[in-house]
Amino acid sequence: MTYRRIGADEQAAAMAALSLGFGAPGEAGNWSARTDVEQLRVVEVDGRFASVLRVSRMGQYWLGRLVPSAQVLALATSLEHRALGHGLALLEGLLGELHEAGVPTVTLQPSTARFYRSVGFEFSGAWSIYEVACEHVPALDRSYRARRLPPGETGPVVELYDRVAPGRHGALARDERWWRQTLARARQHEDKEPVTLLLEGPDGPVGWAMLAFSVDTGPDHEYLRLRVRVQDWGCLPGHDLALLGALAGYRSMEGVVVWSGPDPDPTLFLLPNQSVRLARRHYWMLRLVDLAGAFGARPFPPCAAGRVVLRVEDSTCPWNSGIWTLEVEGGEGRMERAGDQAAAVRAGPRGLAALFTGFTGPDELAGARLLDGLAVADLEFLRAAFASPKPFTAELY
Ligand SMILES: CC(C)(COP(=O)(O)OP(=O)(O)OC[C@H]1O[C@@H](n2cnc3c(N)ncnc32)[C@H](O)[C@@H]1OP(=O)(O)O)[C@@H](O)C(=O)NCCC(=O)NCCS
Repeated sequence: MTYRRIGADEQAAAMAALSLGFGAPGEAGNWSARTDVEQLRVVEVDGRFASVLRVSRMGQYWLGRLVPSAQVLALATSLEHRALGHGLALLEGLLGELHEAGVPTVTLQPSTARFYRSVGFEFSGAWSIYEVACEHVPALDRSYRARRLPPGETGPVVELYDRVAPGRHGALARDERWWRQTLARARQHEDKEPVTLLLEGPDGPVGWAMLAFSVDTGPDHEYLRLRVRVQDWGCLPGHDLALLGALAGYRSMEGVVVWSGPDPDPTLFLLPNQSVRLARRHYWMLRLVDLAGAFGARPFPPCAAGRVVLRVEDSTCPWNSGIWTLEVEGGEGRMERAGDQAAAVRAGPRGLAALFTGFTGPDELAGARLLDGLAVADLEFLRAAFASPKPFTAELY
């Protein structure tokens, strides 16, 4: 069994295995056209690709600071090789590669938590999908102008995103490939032409929304409802309502706007009543590849100070195992080997992952037995050190 990258001449075989793994063998060609070969990793058994994954290497912003990270975008084991440990071997191979490359975290959207938990991933953030009927949205203020960008022109949007992203705890530092491959792609039932809208105020661009439209007419065309799916959006502080207001005119078509936003979404505070509805919530997982690297790289609240001694057991990434001191002071954290100091607090990579992002506090993790042996002083220190906005990554991947 070998974990490795592949060459361009092997891409078709890898995509055939991946698409069959996902039950969509007919999509191999389409998926291949949207994939760069350097993103693919395989586990090879007797000259055949048993398990395949696709990975990207974008950093993530934590409290405004960019920390290197990776994202598993797809992973599947070919039908003929299932339940033989190849999927897990592929993930272990990736974790080893990322460790060597100095990438301290990796995230993914799981379809089966048990599989990923067995190698140390844990739920560490959420995607919240909201809906609002256009009738509840005030019309666009006339001091703004909404302008459609020509297809393929993302320049002003990328510029705005780069200003907005550091303020989103958990946002990805999107690369060019991400804009090209992942965003602004209509789904099967949607109008083929996605639209990018740039919102301009008196002093220049303040926001954008990438839109995909679909119409629901009911079984006998008895009604018409427009669904506007915001594939991606962002705005400078204070302009959220204007961005939504650009779509208010669809109220005559019973328009409904759907988007992925933070929890709680700022529009909750801007609209009368509870007209914004939480439609769905999905959770993403994170794996701490390198404890010392991850906790040493993210910033901490400047007023938090203290230390805790942890005994960590991590059988998948044994370089994380042992006794560690996590010390926080002046906005910085240090995770250092603590020799043979006594450690009452026991942790594994799963509990530490959910703590790292600020998704869950130490109290909930203690309740779930993902952190054990915390004294009152440890709880107080960890609550202060990991206080943050809830992580918010807009795009599902
Ligand atoms: C999920 C998938 C990748 C697992 O691959 P695999 O090579 O068969 O998995 P492994 O043999 O390495 O499994 C290792 C462990 O995970 C568990 N596991 C595997 N698939 C699982 C599933 N769908 N749900 C829950 N647990 C699962 C196995 O039971 C095994 O645990 P065990 O040793 O305690 O029994 C494979 O079933 C697949 O490709 N499914 C369809 C595509 C998919 O869902 N991909 C994941 C997208 S996020």
